Amino acid sequence: MAFDVAKVLADRHGENFKLHGEFMNPQMARVLRTLGFDRFYVRGEGCYLYDDRGDRYLDLLSGFGVYGLGRSHRGIKAALHQALDLDLPNMVQMDCALLAGLLAEALVARSHAGIRRVFFSNSGAEAVESAIKFARFATQRDRILYAAHAFHGLTTGALALNGGAEFRRRFGPLVPSTEVPFGDLDALRRQLRRGDVAAFVVEPIQGKGVHVAPAEYWQGVQALCRQYKTLLVTDEVQTGLGRTGRFFCHEHWALEPDIVTVSKALSGGYIPVGAMLTTDKVFMSVFSSMDRAMVHSSTFGRNALAMVAGLATLDAIDEEGIVARAASTGESFKAKLAPLVEKYEMFHEVRGLGCMIGLEFGPPETPKLRRRWNAVERVRPALFAQAIVVPLFHRHRILTQVAADNVNIIKLLPPLVAGEAEVDAFVAALDDILESAHKGAGLYLELGRTMAKGALPGGRRRKTGYEEAEHTNGTGAPLETTASSP
Ligand SMILES: Cc1ncc(COP(=O)(O)O)c(C=O)c1O
Repeated sequence: MAFDVAKVLADRHGENFKLHGEFMNPQMARVLRTLGFDRFYVRGEGCYLYDDRGDRYLDLLSGFGVYGLGRSHRGIKAALHQALDLDLPNMVQMDCALLAGLLAEALVARSHAGIRRVFFSNSGAEAVESAIKFARFATQRDRILYAAHAFHGLTTGALALNGGAEFRRRFGPLVPSTEVPFGDLDALRRQLRRGDVAAFVVEPIQGKGVHVAPAEYWQGVQALCRQYKTLLVTDEVQTGLGRTGRFFCHEHWALEPDIVTVSKALSGGYIPVGAMLTTDKVFMSVFSSMDRAMVHSSTFGRNALAMVAGLATLDAIDEEGIVARAASTGESFKAKLAPLVEKYEMFHEVRGLGCMIGLEFGPPETPKLRRRWNAVERVRPALFAQAIVVPLFHRHRILTQVAADNVNIIKLLPPLVAGEAEVDAFVAALDDILESAHKGAGLYLELGRTMAKGALPGGRRRKTGYEEAEHTNGTGAPLETTASSP
């Protein structure tokens, strides 16, 4: 009998965390258990996940941005079923397959006039690796610039562009690279002036922390890169394909980057795919002769199912008016969250574009609230954001994430098909939790209880970090809380 997926899932039901603990990354399993995020999800549809208890969760993470079109999108599913049933001649390799050509054509058609060619990869990091290689080859320069707090993936090339020391530590030496503060044109100029910089690789909105720079910065970046013959690479792995209310985020500032990387939402959430889009000049410098036809390639790049998922995704983005929808839903999030910024002292800012939204929290003014805030932050920096994310999940069944390590910023990446119902559900839930935070220590005790229960086998009760802080003046041992990621 053929392999029966449903039977395997039923037979081994509930063993997921045990298996990860035993055969995969046990620390991730520990973190999720500690936060009480250990669920057995059985289905995903649109903006929602369902677990084996029949509970429904609003997914405001969308697989780190993969589910732009929501989970289990009918059109993409149908296209993939059809592709499978056609028994396509996939990955012949010594072939130029039609589907890859069509997806390349469709991506070029949606890009600025200078973008003429596409290289397909299997992930965001691989698209960034391609950008690094092509930029270095095209310019015959070594060094790459990246922004503080940047995230471009975790393969070794992309790691050289990572703005977080904790990711890089002990994995070096890496590709020659230099960090510049995000938003600082003078610092950029000082580096570019040296004349050895192949590319400035930058996210149009930073995923870590949802940092946004003004239009003047971007105009300056493009002008400086052109002046010093450095390639401008906008990494749109997260911001691309409508996420920010434009097809590419760089369109907000009318930029014309030399290289654009995309991935995540292009997969429709099904088949891993990435792409590096660039100019004829950069592309052809690498593939300059027949001898060099395979100087950069990847076995699974251009595979038929990824290409079908990409084509079906672009079709659905157009058909469903996804880009405009992301813009209007984003506006609605901002408008409906604004009164909460007024209402709660520790809610400082809502920022971002379209459906890439950052909520920043900070110390309140009122002395009593501030004392409590300080006590919590002494236990572990940015524990407040975690104290919001955890009850959002437990009380309201809403999945969100802390936007980076050690920052009190929560990131929302809703599916772009989200609408008013999802906005209203989130705003009401956040209002409820912030009200608890203003009222007393209950919210922190709730976090402590969840973590203590999750951290110990069988959920035995142990004193929480917050309780220890109260009793030890902030010197209590902190619990592991980090679940932040790009
Ligand atoms: C801007 C950006 N670039 C690159 C990557 C890496 O993509 P992947 O995880 O598919 O390798 C990410 C992932 O979050 C990202 O946000």
